[in-house]
Amino acid sequence: MSDPRILILGAPGAGKGTQSKRLCEEYDIEHITTGDALRANKQMETEYGTPAEYMDAGELVPDPLVNEIVAAALEDADGFVLDGYPRNESQVEYLEDATDLDVVLYLDVDEEELVRRLTGRRVCPECGASYHVDFNPPEEEGVCDECGSELVQRDDDTEETVRERLKTYEENTEDVIEHYRGTDEFVQIDGEQSPDEVWADVKDAVDAQAE
Ligand code: AP5
Ligand code: MG
Ligand code: ZN
Repeated sequence: MSDPRILILGAPGAGKGTQSKRLCEEYDIEHITTGDALRANKQMETEYGTPAEYMDAGELVPDPLVNEIVAAALEDADGFVLDGYPRNESQVEYLEDATDLDVVLYLDVDEEELVRRLTGRRVCPECGASYHVDFNPPEEEGVCDECGSELVQRDDDTEETVRERLKTYEENTEDVIEHYRGTDEFVQIDGEQSPDEVWADVKDAVDAQAE
């Protein structure tokens, strides 16, 4: 099979990052994630201001900044998993001009579960691994299993910003899900199962589409 080109969709906290990491290891593909790229450049001054002004308010960063990140990353990748993009109709159009996709995964999770997951999340600033204080704890509290770094909470994982992010998702990104739902590449996955169960469905979906 040639390197799969995967799009992973889902609300904030649905498990996109968690599953993307496993996809990259399993298929040896690139993780293209606008959220991580923006976090690495949060204080960068642009004509629209800094990404931080939007991210910490739970709003979308302006399309031109985000499209540029994706265009550059796609140029360097054969296979990839695209996580956090597209988030509105104009980004969908941009992506459709830039590349084809082999499989579109949608992780379906209820709103209250999303809030619990996001407010309890801890992330590794070094390797990007994602944990949860109750649902997916590291072996040693506050320490990354993979690389031993100290875990941190994301600035936008406070309950107030989480509610804003979910509102932004409803207003902008639910239409993106509907855009892909009718296509042959679309596979909906029950994202409320355990991480291992979700992974089993994700892998089955990718293997089936790539056959
Ligand atoms: P981004 O970083 O993309 O955040 P998000 O979409 O809000 O998604 P998250 O990363 O919070 O959730 P996830 O689905 O990756 O979940 P995870 O696997 O970590 O974007 C951040 C900001 O950047 C945006 O608000 C916006 O401002 C800006 N931005 C980004 N892209 C943009 C774009 N295209 N256009 C404009 N602006 C953009 O899991 C969450 C938690 O749940 C973890 O604790 C994890 O351990 C746990 N968990 C995972 N799976 C399970 C499971 N199966 N059961 C129980 N717990 C689980
Ligand atoms: Mg993520
Ligand atoms: Zn780590």
